[in-house]
Amino acid sequence: MVVGSSKKRSKRRSSDFSAAMASSSLAQNKASASRSKKQSGIIRATYILSTLLGLSVFFLFFASWKNTDALGSDPQFFTIDVVNEFPHDPEAFTQGLVYGGNDTLFESTGLYGRSSVRQVLLQTGKVQASHQMDKSFFGEGLTLLGERLFQVTWLKKIGFVYNRYNFSEHIKFNHQMQDGWGLATDGSVIYGSDGSSTLYQLDPHTLKVLGSATVLYKDHEVPYLNELEYINGEVWANVWMTDCIARISPKNGMVHSWILLHQLRQGLLESGHTGLDVLNGIAWDKERNRLFVTGKLWPKLYEVKLQPVTALVNARIETLCPLRS
Ligand SMILES: *[C@@H]1O[C@H](CO)[C@@H](O)[C@H](O)[C@H]1NC(C)=O
Ligand SMILES: *[C@@H]1O[C@H](CO)[C@@H](O)[C@H](O)[C@H]1NC(C)=O
Repeated sequence: MVVGSSKKRSKRRSSDFSAAMASSSLAQNKASASRSKKQSGIIRATYILSTLLGLSVFFLFFASWKNTDALGSDPQFFTIDVVNEFPHDPEAFTQGLVYGGNDTLFESTGLYGRSSVRQVLLQTGKVQASHQMDKSFFGEGLTLLGERLFQVTWLKKIGFVYNRYNFSEHIKFNHQMQDGWGLATDGSVIYGSDGSSTLYQLDPHTLKVLGSATVLYKDHEVPYLNELEYINGEVWANVWMTDCIARISPKNGMVHSWILLHQLRQGLLESGHTGLDVLNGIAWDKERNRLFVTGKLWPKLYEVKLQPVTALVNARIETLCPLRS
């Protein structure tokens, strides 16, 4: 939300999970190298014994984690595999992202004087059509319902409805959330976030609040809910200033799983990209089950697939996705 928020971020280490994976593949390489040499039976026996010992330590750790977590509701954790990378306008302070069919995306961008709603080609990142917002508005969340695009704005309880085929055709509306951060829709109600831990349901005709839920992860409120996407009965939310997406049950606000996307921003930083702001922007192509993510001022947009992970990440989830409530 805030310009220059990246300054507040400390560079995070990649997850323990990837470190563990790296060291285990290193161990495998070492093992095959030593296998290629002539080995005495004793060395081989020692190797087998130490492998067995290692495995049992791992299973013991896993078993003890399962026990300590038995009180909770078995939350799940995912990392991601990058399936495709696409260009993304590095000047776009992405605040809303939605898939529009035919390999096009609609995007809302923020910052005063640079706020817009635009139609973007997936493959090239090229802007096909765009509407520049008045300098007094800071664009935020965006969602598509039928032919209408709904957009909210930061620090104002004002939003806009656009015709997806003609951005000049638009009307202003007022809403009752405390602020405008994220929007999503299941096709009948609009879900909204305002930077708090509240997930709102809005009537798409009147924009009135129909209901709301407090988003909780194991009894902790999850604040800073940002860009939203509705995916297969769940609401997914970027949590501001983290590299994490919370998967929320819209019925009761419970976060039942987390997606850890640290590798994306880390990868961009390592390849020399500077001036990046936070992860923000989730789009879902429901016809082809494609998931897209990007960030504010990121030069790339990623198609990703989820990969379930186990205990080691869970142990550090509060560090990886800090909940500052
Ligand atoms: C996709 O493109 C085809 C052919 O140009 C068009 O008929 C169809 O309406 C488009 N779909 C969407 C969702 O825009
Ligand atoms: C787009 O909408 C504007 C405002 O309603 C209208 O004047 C214009 O003719 C429309 N353009 C097209 C191509 O339909």
